[in-house]
Amino acid sequence: MAPAKNSDLLICHDQTIAPYGVIHKFGLCESVLDSEARVTPHHSGAQFLRRPLLEGWVNFPVALAPMVGLSHVALRLLVRRYLPVGARTLWPTEMLSSWRLPKEDLGATAETLMAEGGEDDLVPQILGNEEEPIRQSVQKLAAWGARGVDINMGCPVKKALKHNYGVALMGDQAYAAEVVRMTVKHSPIPVSVKLRAGLQNDQEFLLRFVRGLEEAGAAWITLHPRIGHMKRRGAADWSQVRLVREALGIPVIGNGDVQCVEDVFSLNEVSGCDAVMVGRALAARPWLLWQVGEALGFSPPPGFAGQRAPHTPFEEGAEYGRALIYFIDLLAKYFDFEAGAKRFRFHVRMTGGWLEWGQNLYSIGCKAKDYVELRAESERFFASPQKMYARTQLRE
Ligand SMILES: Cc1cc2nc3c(=O)[nH]c(=O)nc-3n(C[C@H](O)[C@H](O)[C@H](O)COP(=O)(O)O)c2cc1C
Repeated sequence: MAPAKNSDLLICHDQTIAPYGVIHKFGLCESVLDSEARVTPHHSGAQFLRRPLLEGWVNFPVALAPMVGLSHVALRLLVRRYLPVGARTLWPTEMLSSWRLPKEDLGATAETLMAEGGEDDLVPQILGNEEEPIRQSVQKLAAWGARGVDINMGCPVKKALKHNYGVALMGDQAYAAEVVRMTVKHSPIPVSVKLRAGLQNDQEFLLRFVRGLEEAGAAWITLHPRIGHMKRRGAADWSQVRLVREALGIPVIGNGDVQCVEDVFSLNEVSGCDAVMVGRALAARPWLLWQVGEALGFSPPPGFAGQRAPHTPFEEGAEYGRALIYFIDLLAKYFDFEAGAKRFRFHVRMTGGWLEWGQNLYSIGCKAKDYVELRAESERFFASPQKMYARTQLRE
């Protein structure tokens, strides 16, 4: 039986005016695929960074999201490759445990590997709820060169719920604010929080909660507008980003379901967010940074001078292939084959959905015996033209 094509799952945005502004809904639609809309971003009203991040150091409004197993050094370097010349933004690590960090040798674990030559723009994310481990962790991270530190209040796994960290902190407003206060007290660098919309749907609660974080000293917050039990299912409700942005005086970064350049500008329009954080789609189409930069008048990334960012489905499919080969080379540089192949498989599992036949990449990652084979088979796959969709169904 022929495998299902991802084109069976295409979706696009339908915007409806609602009491809180424009609510985004997802509906079945194939026409977006080849439409001019992909080539002409609607950025006329874009107003990013109205509230400065890192005292104005950040001058580019899109950042990679922290993602366990994905936002390691190789992915960061892949995405950085497409950062326009002169653009500066925030960069995550994978989530780091504040209980383990004090005992770890930073740079020696897979999660804290830094790019050769250094990365002076990291905002590592920590998981924690106890003062002493947090104190030691932030001081260690600051000494390591981090520009800021982010507190995770979004992780919905059972262990986090049981031990009262991650999204569980959203169950106790006063204590969550206390965690921010203790972190700020010990941190020589700015402290931000990445959170969900709560444990249940309650906008009054969300507003009280974020005001508490602001009062406790959070420098900015990133909102992933889903409640805890949704994990990453269901649509992110961008109107909540607007609510929170209007309620606070600190910068607010919007996140969730941004899949393509159009979505970056739509989220900004809908919410007034100061910047947009992108997870899965930026792993899939790292040149999204180039596309956004192009729309905002930045120069192309280093090495792409005089070129336009890929935009059509086949241009993007071909770029996915080139990016994947570059990614394999980065994996080979930073990880032994076993660790690298594991990361390759996870990467294509999370990103292959944007490609018509992307599911086949996973088996390439299973069969390859070494990096040479992984590279050769990936090149063979992309020798025939591949089509990449603007949007796909986000299932994980
Ligand atoms: C594999 C995976 C791991 C994630 N790990 C983290 C994490 O460690 N910390 C965090 O705050 N969010 C984590 N997230 C959530 C993302 O940062 C982001 O909020 C979410 O994926 C929605 O954004 P997106 O639709 O752009 O992917 C993870 C997401 C994925 C897909």
